[in-house]
Amino acid sequence: MHIENHPVLGKQLQKPVTVYFNNQPLLAYKQQTVAAALIANGIKKLGESRKLVQSRGLFCSRGRCCSCYMTIDGENHVRSCMTKVKDGMQIYQSLGDPEIRSDENGY
Ligand code: FES
Repeated sequence: MHIENHPVLGKQLQKPVTVYFNNQPLLAYKQQTVAAALIANGIKKLGESRKLVQSRGLFCSRGRCCSCYMTIDGENHVRSCMTKVKDGMQIYQSLGDPEIRSDENGY
């Protein structure tokens, strides 16, 4: 559910854009964060914890806790609560450790 008319902030929705969550198209609005757009579409599980493989979701909503890490446009472990949506953005749940040691990184 998108908030269309906030009682304090007024009309919030702007230009609609399409983002893809696990290859499924979703409606989002320009200026929304990725996490806000996903929650507005009923998606609360943003990833899984590395060790215990438990569901992770939005926690602090202000870029402090790292609970909302996702893979966005091919980049691992991006804070979805701090990242604004873009039309055509590819978003995937963060499952497991990121690939940090590869030939591309010079290791
Ligand atoms: S929810 Fe805490 S950093 Fe995004």
